[in-house]
Amino acid sequence: MTPNERTRLARQASEILIDNDRGDYTVPTKGLYPFQWNWDSCLSALGLAALDEDRAWREMETLFAHQWPDGMVPHIIFHQADEGYFPGPEIWQTGRPVPTSGITQPPVAGFAARRIFERSQDRTAYAPRVRSLIEKIDRWHAFLYDARDPQGEGLVAVIHPWESGRDNTIDWDEPFRHVPREGITPYRRRDVEHADPAHRPTKAQYDRYIWLVEHFRGHAWNNAVLHNASPFRVVDPAFNAILIRSCADLSELAGMLGAEDIAEANRSRAEKGLAALESLWSEADGQYLCLDRTTGRLVRSLSVGGLLGVLAAIPQERARAIGDRIAALMTRCAYPVPSHDPSDPLFDAKRYWRGPVWLIVNYLLADGLKAAGLSEQAASLRAGSLALIEKSGFAEYYDPLTGEPCGGDRFTWTAAMVLEFLRGADGELGRI
Ligand code: DGY
Repeated sequence: MTPNERTRLARQASEILIDNDRGDYTVPTKGLYPFQWNWDSCLSALGLAALDEDRAWREMETLFAHQWPDGMVPHIIFHQADEGYFPGPEIWQTGRPVPTSGITQPPVAGFAARRIFERSQDRTAYAPRVRSLIEKIDRWHAFLYDARDPQGEGLVAVIHPWESGRDNTIDWDEPFRHVPREGITPYRRRDVEHADPAHRPTKAQYDRYIWLVEHFRGHAWNNAVLHNASPFRVVDPAFNAILIRSCADLSELAGMLGAEDIAEANRSRAEKGLAALESLWSEADGQYLCLDRTTGRLVRSLSVGGLLGVLAAIPQERARAIGDRIAALMTRCAYPVPSHDPSDPLFDAKRYWRGPVWLIVNYLLADGLKAAGLSEQAASLRAGSLALIEKSGFAEYYDPLTGEPCGGDRFTWTAAMVLEFLRGADGELGRI
């Protein structure tokens, strides 16, 4: 890529971040997602930091201003009314001063905060704000291990597919059989008015998403009981690896800020989580698998969720096996990395998390591979990701076989990841 091409891509990415900026938070994209989403915001903050560090911290501060008293950080903050999204606050009915959803999302905040602080232009000036933020992230981690791992196994469960961020992955097909469809209030989907229905989850999946929301609402969103009350309780290796990595990163960040108690608590959470993650490893498949906690059985579904284990400091031979799996997947697809193995008959190249490529996934995989010393593979993910953007623009996700852009357009976290991928070996982005 020539310097001119880099500059052009960086400029386009910055324009998208600015367009989707609503002052104190960003929307993932206009129309389809008109509010603040949890993990979108934290990963987008990495891109915002390249434009304006103060604004990046504000993005995360705004999210954490809506943390629940029990420590949960909701997956959506409904900052202002918008008829164009379903299910809106009137469905969730969580009773928060500013309406929020009632479930959470992958906890990338610790990971993002450490990275932004390490690159900070003025650590002394930002330290007090970051000190206050890490206390909130620590409370969120404590919440996850308390409420979503009530037996203290070291692995947390998601109780709704939306919590994983990979809403309709093939991983959930089997565990979703325990979730009924009957008895829900009739509803009108809005997502299929903004995006091609063939790229989105099915009606059968939406019925179950909504059944779970109504079920949790019936328990007054009491997180002390929701884990055991949910017919969907899945231990997702991706969610856990993200949490383990965020605990480790929060521990380092807290150490830099002299918060020894937070550093220690998160170090021990990460160690326990890492040891427990071993139980999800499948030697035959060369990757981690999900565990259905309602049956105690591993789910043999070869999705990218099991590859994202590499984001945690897993044993070297596991990281190498995951690197080999990714290399094999790359020989079958024009663009890396499919969210599901194309050899599975259920693979669907355009349907959300059942096949498409996501830039944030490529970024997290590349980061984990690089940390494990697999720099060449990390570099090829970076090159493949930028080639995809050059071809197809800043979409929500992409068909891995053709590169066709899918879902929403002008997507905030895709733009943020492009800025990340454009950084040189020294981590500098240069002038935008
Ligand atoms: C959606 O509405 O599709 C979101 O992924 C749920 O958070």
